[in-house]
Amino acid sequence: MPATTGMKGAGDYDQHSGAQHSGIQALQDRVDDAVAKLPLPAPAQPVTALDLGSSEGRNAVRLMAAIVTGLRRRTDQPLQTIYSDLASINFNQLFANLEEARRAGLFAAGVYPGAVGGSFYGPLLPPGTVHLATCFNSILWLDRLPAVPLPDGVAYRRPLPTRTGLAVSPPEATAAFTRQAEQDLVQFLECRARELVPGAKLLLASPGDTDQIRLCDGLFDVLNNACLDLVAAGRLERKGYERLTMPCYHRTVAELLAPLEGEDSPVRDAFTVDRAEALEIPIPFLVEFRRGGDVAAYAGAYTGFLRAFSEPVVRATLNQTEGELETVECLYERIRARLLAEPERYSWRYTLVAALLTRR
Ligand SMILES: C[S@@+](CC[C@H](N)C(=O)[O-])C[C@H]1O[C@@H](n2cnc3c(N)ncnc32)[C@H](O)[C@@H]1O
Repeated sequence: MPATTGMKGAGDYDQHSGAQHSGIQALQDRVDDAVAKLPLPAPAQPVTALDLGSSEGRNAVRLMAAIVTGLRRRTDQPLQTIYSDLASINFNQLFANLEEARRAGLFAAGVYPGAVGGSFYGPLLPPGTVHLATCFNSILWLDRLPAVPLPDGVAYRRPLPTRTGLAVSPPEATAAFTRQAEQDLVQFLECRARELVPGAKLLLASPGDTDQIRLCDGLFDVLNNACLDLVAAGRLERKGYERLTMPCYHRTVAELLAPLEGEDSPVRDAFTVDRAEALEIPIPFLVEFRRGGDVAAYAGAYTGFLRAFSEPVVRATLNQTEGELETVECLYERIRARLLAEPERYSWRYTLVAALLTRR
């Protein structure tokens, strides 16, 4: 049972995912590399590219258009492009994006798009049918929220060996979140190992941590502090705040590769690692704010970005009574107000932890 229903719908994710698009663009050469080296099937067979966690599709369709362009340089055989996400997401918007792209001539003849609703922690396509799989900004979402309370924060905060003085989650939370993230990744890789043909490429890129930088710092602090404002103002019950935990885990590069190296791992021999790295991605609204100083634009864009991925979890957690529904609006208003008042306090660092793998 996935721990989120997806991103905020009605075009909201599409509108507020410029940062994620920057991450995809930053890895364009890895995409090109994968496209150039993936094994082509027999000429009459389609080449299949699968995107995992496509959301409403604005970013995914642009990514797929680049993949199609690269493949067309290599072959004129049919191309099957599959977008996938949880069945609960706004697939109407995804299909609208596909139609718009088709009308704009983004997809050449012989390209056959399709969509699959289902969790990437389970099988999505028949065994041995996929030549390229991409997964951007998505495997941070855990399959299930670990059953350890985090009463003093809305997200898990790992200890950093290189930095003292940071707020960290209790050791039992570290054990539970780390274990859940490990299990999820193994399950994800087992499913992809079945779907990918030998030699196929798998490009994974997810918001992550390094030994110096935690993604949660700043980003989840503003959500946390805005919740506490509402508790102090009597707009949110303390127990509602204590229940709210983002079901996310920001892996390091080592954690991303661990299942491929572990002695007893079921995917130990399933993939080779072409390259793996952590990249810092400039966040468009932060770059723009530091350049032009428009704090209102910054607070609006930051709030929209944060809301697009956190609101479904916030709503699912707080959606107990009519009153609490209004609380959601107040919460994002408080976030905006905090960003307006102290814009730099909540700045954050977007690390993309990425690996390009080849199915053995
Ligand atoms: C931040 S969006 C990324 C969208 C797009 N790939 C991009 O980079 O802009 C994360 C997506 O992962 C999806 N997701 C989360 N858990 C999932 C799961 N278990 N299976 C499939 N998709 C999942 C969410 O529904 C959401 O659409």
